[in-house]
Amino acid sequence: MCGIVGYVGSRDAAPILVDGLRRLEYRGYDSAGVAVLGDDGLQIVRCEGKLSGLEGCLATKPLKGTTGIGHTRWATHGRPSEQNAHPHNYQGVAVVHNGIIENHLQLKQLLRAGGHSFSSETDTEIFAHLIASELADVTRSKGLEKNTTGNGLLAEAVRRALRKVRGTYALAVLREEDPSELVIAKNASPIVLGRAEGAWLVASDVPALLPYTRDIIFLEEEELATVRADHVELESFDGIPIERAPTRVDWSPVMAEKNGHKHFMHKEIHEQPRAIADTLRGRASVETGDVHLEDVGLDEQSARSISRIVVVACGTSWHAGLVGKTAIEQLARLPVEVDLASEFRYRQPVIDESTLVIPISQSGETADTLAALREARRLGAGSLAIVNVVGSAIAREADHVLYTHAGPEIGVASTKCFTTQLTALILIAIRLGRLRGTLDSGQARAHLENLSKVPGHVEEILGREEDLRSIAVSVSSSPNFLFLGRGSSFPIALEGALKLKEISYIHAEGYAAGEMKHGPIALIEDGLPVVIIATRHGTYEKALGNLEEVRARGGRVIAVATSEDNDIGSLADDVIWVPDGGSLVDPILAVVPLQLLSYHVADYNGTDVDQPRNLAKSVTVE
Ligand code: F6R
Repeated sequence: MCGIVGYVGSRDAAPILVDGLRRLEYRGYDSAGVAVLGDDGLQIVRCEGKLSGLEGCLATKPLKGTTGIGHTRWATHGRPSEQNAHPHNYQGVAVVHNGIIENHLQLKQLLRAGGHSFSSETDTEIFAHLIASELADVTRSKGLEKNTTGNGLLAEAVRRALRKVRGTYALAVLREEDPSELVIAKNASPIVLGRAEGAWLVASDVPALLPYTRDIIFLEEEELATVRADHVELESFDGIPIERAPTRVDWSPVMAEKNGHKHFMHKEIHEQPRAIADTLRGRASVETGDVHLEDVGLDEQSARSISRIVVVACGTSWHAGLVGKTAIEQLARLPVEVDLASEFRYRQPVIDESTLVIPISQSGETADTLAALREARRLGAGSLAIVNVVGSAIAREADHVLYTHAGPEIGVASTKCFTTQLTALILIAIRLGRLRGTLDSGQARAHLENLSKVPGHVEEILGREEDLRSIAVSVSSSPNFLFLGRGSSFPIALEGALKLKEISYIHAEGYAAGEMKHGPIALIEDGLPVVIIATRHGTYEKALGNLEEVRARGGRVIAVATSEDNDIGSLADDVIWVPDGGSLVDPILAVVPLQLLSYHVADYNGTDVDQPRNLAKSVTVE
């Protein structure tokens, strides 16, 4: 989720690049950099921290040149630092990148064996090395001089390099010998072109371009473009030319920042298929049933030495931990305790060297979770953090980190980070199960196959948004809600209630459905909306029983059910259908409609969805 900009024209590139980056800062901002080509050759300035740092550096060292690329970084590989900031340069080939190279370890190994050495911890630097090597090969094989310009040389080198790379990328590349062009490429990460007066611009998102043009070309998957001041050449990765005229966009700058969505929360809910796929990328092999988490300390020896797992987290991340408990206990037969971090730190927990502590945190900065991690480490536990923000305090202090690759989450209510946390926990459960011999490869393959289908299933649920919006509008004036679930759907009921209360300020309670008779059933009265998660797996029959009890007392039942479940259709007032994804991934599928339900209730009632009252995105105080 980094921001990319590029410019080829007649004006000084650096101020235009920085202005574009400023408009993309919402995509991530742990470091930034620009590369400009001019009379002084290739000049690169990079800085750790916010864009203002880069502006400060450029004020003391202005860059002259009319071609350039820029980047604002959201770290995925390597901590935030000047060294890891983009652009990365190798032998005059400078690259900015948004995405993940899945086979980065193998590629780095191969390149190292060929004599390359790397100056950063990033996967991106690999592109610079690969493209520079291919460029040298192409130039040599055509019998051309090293400094030959044009001829589609850079595009060909990029195309050849991309054949070796597995992963996602939006890429912009320039080459010291030829200031007249940039090459850009797209695979799964967005990148667009804009036509301005005497120039073409590049950006990972439309807002960066709006002050200069509204004539935009959107690159499609596996397309590449050579960009010059007066024209662009678009082609497929196979080198087949593509004709595409610019589209005129009439988005306001604010709409553009949210990619056409009304709120960041809505955008982030819709980003979940991509975020989940990125979290899985390079870590799971459906063919072999293997989960590759060697790099986060989960090897055979450690898996056997763990006697128990303790998860510490707050809020939504705590709910993720509760789902993770079910998955780990079921697949790896290890006892898991899930503690609110704010409680853990004060209750003299029983911890020893054979305990693995898993702190879960989107921000990686939550004060209670950090304090709980420190306490657990003081008592001798090993730690594996699940974190979204690279280089954050929890990521730095834990022994190992498994990053969720959700990208920056700006809406205060956590959505895509929750589903990527669940994805990460399921990967850990499968890995531990395999290492401990409690899960055979056939079972692991089946679970991983189900997991690999989750992005598609989530896409399908998002396609039913209009139905959810109608349900939301019909219950939006209700002052109370109840959410019920059993087994791994219980934490999803808690999460559904939390989402609703935090963004709509409506009182909502999440309960384990089996607890109904022990108190909450007294709340049920005519018309009370009761959301019941009754997907096909686990305790489905019992959930149906609870549904009947609610109906008998006049509650308005909104059921989340597995598609093609005809029984439930006649029992509930409204049914939200989710695909049958298998028991392990059911919680991921069940929570998406609840996110949308809360979102549309809040939006209809006109509350501040992205910045609800009294809340902050990162809770760095106790
Ligand atoms: C709710 C929400 C919060 C966070 C909690 C922990 O939507 O976002 O409940 O989950 O404050 O934050 P992190 O995950 O950053 O530690």
